[in-house]
Amino acid sequence: MSLNSDFTADLEAQIAQLKADRVYKRLNHLTSPQGAHVSMEGRGEIVVLSSNNYVGLANHPRVVDAGLDALRRYGAGTASVRFICGTFDVHRDLEAALARFVGTPAALSFVSCWNANEALTPTIATEHDVVISDQLNHASIIDSVRLAKAITKCQTAVYRHADLDDLREKLVAARGARRRFIWTDGVFSMEGSIAPLPELLQLAREHDAVVIMDDSHATGVLGATGRGTAEHFGVLGEVDVITSTLGKALGGAAGGFVAGSEALCDMLTQRSRPQLFSNALPPTVAASALAAVQVLEAEPERVARLRENAAWFRAAIREAGFSPLAGETPIVPIIVGETALAIRMSELLLERGVFVTGFGYPVVPQGQARVRCQVSAAHTREDLAFVVDAFVSAGRVAGLLR
Ligand SMILES: Cc1ncc(COP(=O)(O)O)c(C=O)c1O
Repeated sequence: MSLNSDFTADLEAQIAQLKADRVYKRLNHLTSPQGAHVSMEGRGEIVVLSSNNYVGLANHPRVVDAGLDALRRYGAGTASVRFICGTFDVHRDLEAALARFVGTPAALSFVSCWNANEALTPTIATEHDVVISDQLNHASIIDSVRLAKAITKCQTAVYRHADLDDLREKLVAARGARRRFIWTDGVFSMEGSIAPLPELLQLAREHDAVVIMDDSHATGVLGATGRGTAEHFGVLGEVDVITSTLGKALGGAAGGFVAGSEALCDMLTQRSRPQLFSNALPPTVAASALAAVQVLEAEPERVARLRENAAWFRAAIREAGFSPLAGETPIVPIIVGETALAIRMSELLLERGVFVTGFGYPVVPQGQARVRCQVSAAHTREDLAFVVDAFVSAGRVAGLLR
């Protein structure tokens, strides 16, 4: 038996093309835990400015110990689907803590937010409904809507990014539908911008629509105590459905959840395909995420430090001559134009001890390639000043600064 050589040759040709187009991604291997500084194979110690470890919990002793304790207590996992062979009490505890944290009656965990989003839309939409999605929504939302359309034959529409007039038009056009769903990110990951949530809720009330918000980049980040976009705008408890990840601020391992009414979570347990046909979140990860929520509830000053660090970095990088996109989140994208320049900047920064990723087309629009900086509460001012110096030096070499 040998592998299909034609198939392999085809893949090799596609990879060669990615390299020729300079869009091939190389993985950097870390040999230490995620943090403000990491040890990178072949590079030594590096300041990380590209992780979603927003409040510095990925290697927090309580988060690590909780995972270790859970591994000893529960073993690796249930070895099947939750409804078939039982689920752990730590899943129930985590789900109660998540619901409390984001301000909903209930929550249900999944192995990732990607999985949660893909579970959600096909379960709640029917062929009589319209799902209306922001143009810049995350890929997992886009795929969940595509999946819902393929499975349920629901209608779909896309509104221009954060454009309330366009959304209103789409809602009016969907007047005859049984139900209208508005799907939005809370924080848009490539822009660092925040969805106009109060206005979305108002439109939803006027047009009898259901609001679904993916708060992956806002949970643990926005609002005085990190409860997300709803807390930021003072509308906690008013969003019909929130999805989010455990893979960013809440420990950073993996996992996601859907939060909403008891009936919604029950329905997802009954009918969503990832719940019915795939294993639960490993108990180690559930326990670590639960500890992360508890640390954050006890130490809201982490969120305040994150906000101060982000504001300091935005001002310093602007003063250094760069033009970051305006905003108030810890995502600080610096537009450089062409994809090759974004990749060049990230290479030059890595040579200077800073790990930050360049994003180009098709992840972002043509001509708007960017280096996306993500600030953490774990960074010290010295770390951030070091990063700004590295940007100035790299920017001069790349021709972005004189
Ligand atoms: C808005 C948004 N939703 C979902 C995800 C996927 O999260 P997970 O890693 O839990 O699948 C991400 C991750 O980048 C994200 O930014």
